[in-house]
Amino acid sequence: MNVLIIGSGGREHALAWKLKQSPLLGKLHCIPGSAAIAELAACPPVRQDDQDGVYGYCAAQGVDLVVVGPEAPLAKGLSDFLTAKGLKVFGPSRRGAMLEASKQFAKEFMDRNEIPTAEFTVFYSAAFAREKIAANRKYPVVIKADGLAAGKGVRICRDEAEALAAVEDFMEKRVFGFSGSKVVMEEFLAGKEASVMALTDGESALLLPVSRDHKRLLDGGEGPNTGGMGAVCPVDLAEEDMAVIRTQVIQRFLSGLAKERIGFRGVIYAGVMLTADGPKVLEFNVRFGDPETQAVLPVIKSDLLPVLAACADGKLSGRELELLDGVCVSVVAAAAGYPEAPEKGRPITGLYERTPGVTVFHAGTEKKEDAWFTAGGRVLAVSAVGMDADEAREKAYAALAAIKFEGMQYRKDIGQ
Ligand code: AMP
Ligand code: GLY
Repeated sequence: MNVLIIGSGGREHALAWKLKQSPLLGKLHCIPGSAAIAELAACPPVRQDDQDGVYGYCAAQGVDLVVVGPEAPLAKGLSDFLTAKGLKVFGPSRRGAMLEASKQFAKEFMDRNEIPTAEFTVFYSAAFAREKIAANRKYPVVIKADGLAAGKGVRICRDEAEALAAVEDFMEKRVFGFSGSKVVMEEFLAGKEASVMALTDGESALLLPVSRDHKRLLDGGEGPNTGGMGAVCPVDLAEEDMAVIRTQVIQRFLSGLAKERIGFRGVIYAGVMLTADGPKVLEFNVRFGDPETQAVLPVIKSDLLPVLAACADGKLSGRELELLDGVCVSVVAAAAGYPEAPEKGRPITGLYERTPGVTVFHAGTEKKEDAWFTAGGRVLAVSAVGMDADEAREKAYAALAAIKFEGMQYRKDIGQ
């Protein structure tokens, strides 16, 4: 089977690494890919938002399956476009992608389908938002820009002034452009978070082991929000929480798709808050989590390729995944200045030290001649598998100690 991955980050590097192990794989391709992915896959000079270009490449190369990494091409309808041309695509339709691309759509979908989530109100105008905020008595409150905002469109507001500032930034200053034309205000939920991902062909679903992302920059959950500073997989949830996730989140998601005729062959990722009243969905993403994928894939023992192909084929039912009996800890190394203004172009050394059970996934690196340089905020992730979280952590940090670049920042408490 010839496979094309769309994307260029750490998540796609991990997908390429996992698919490359499949005995069923013919040739692996990645658009646009990266220098690190180019060691595993052909990376042609085609843009991921050039749908005709992507299709032309698939036709010329005899690609059998397209696996879409990021949300943006899905929200622009890449899956519908390629599917209409007869290709098999792992990645939902444009309407399915609205579960991530519009918070309003996601919240109303959850409401209609009785998926547990925070109470919410949608604001269509700043004037109406101010009226509702003036009447709100409960803080903190959460204000979210409706559209895609690269993970930055959510504010936890401690008082009325912060809520009003969020509305002004999103709806009037339009700091996220059109994404702020509508805003969702919702109840603040307290608890621990978990990332629940399930592969699906739209009719049945296969849960991946639950993972946890560490979103804040600094140890102990301090500092600014980031794209994710590390992840651990699996995390053990209480059996009653898992039961709610299976029946009230995943099952109701599937029946919602059927009722509303939403095409969804790919992965659904529910960001879940484990509240005192049980699990509640904070958000849906329509793609693999980053950096969760870098911690989840190393604990999957089975060949992933036939399972992704079965999703794209509408034949997932009855498939299972065998897991390793262990834990993976993935620690992100970020550039100086991340997340505000990451410094780029710093030489990276120590990348070729290898320990068994440890893999380095590149997110923001580039290669010039034979040397590696930083090229993004999150530079790389070191993923280590151990018998338990302590062993995995020890291995990940030992491997990370060999890798150096100027100003490297990483958390010391991933998986704790
Ligand atoms: P989202 O992009 O909707 O997942 O939000 C990003 C992050 O904001 C989540 O991972 C949570 O840490 C936090 N968050 C979002 N919604 C809520 C909520 N209703 N209550 C508490 N925290 C939230
Ligand atoms: N790790 C959070 C995300 O992928 O959205």
